[in-house]
Amino acid sequence: MVLLKGFGPDGFRFFTNRQSRKGRELDSNPFASLVFYWEPLNRQVRIEGSVRRLSEEESEQYFHSRPRSSQIGAVASRQSSVIPNREYLMQRNAELEQKYRDVPVPKPEDWGGYILQPDVVEFWQGQTSRLHDRIVFRRLRDGAEPPGPMTRRGEGEWVFERLAP
Ligand SMILES: Cc1cc2nc3c(=O)[nH]c(=O)nc-3n(C[C@H](O)[C@H](O)[C@H](O)COP(=O)(O)O)c2cc1C
Repeated sequence: MVLLKGFGPDGFRFFTNRQSRKGRELDSNPFASLVFYWEPLNRQVRIEGSVRRLSEEESEQYFHSRPRSSQIGAVASRQSSVIPNREYLMQRNAELEQKYRDVPVPKPEDWGGYILQPDVVEFWQGQTSRLHDRIVFRRLRDGAEPPGPMTRRGEGEWVFERLAP
């Protein structure tokens, strides 16, 4: 789970440590899925697409907008690495709080943002009848399957279809 820190026509933004497990996985396979689930609304949105890194400028800007304790925490924690115990982390955090007491906390080199550019977006709406609605939008790219008789055109290069639940 990560926080969604922005979205727009260019994609969905999130931030993490690039040497974390997920960061290294994205280096070797730059595709990902996002899922949003709202239980009270019986609603799910799934998104699939390619992922690329955000610029250093954008990563810096967001890093310094976070609470200071979160900035220190990001420096203290080499995310996904094995550590001996909780005290190790607390001590490292305390040392860094002291070190950066009067100066800005530098963004760790390995910390930054990603943007997922969607190729598929599925809107799932649960119905009490169990005949749920599934509307899938996909972006047609060169070489993509041409739309069939049940495929409708959306905006731009998007088409959409209804899937059986
Ligand atoms: C509500 C919530 C929000 C989170 N937001 C982030 C986030 O924005 N970035 C992040 O790196 N980890 C976030 N985490 C922690 C991740 O779920 C995960 O534990 C961490 O990124 C390490 O994952 P990895 O070892 O698979 O790379 C969040 C966890 C929760 C429960």
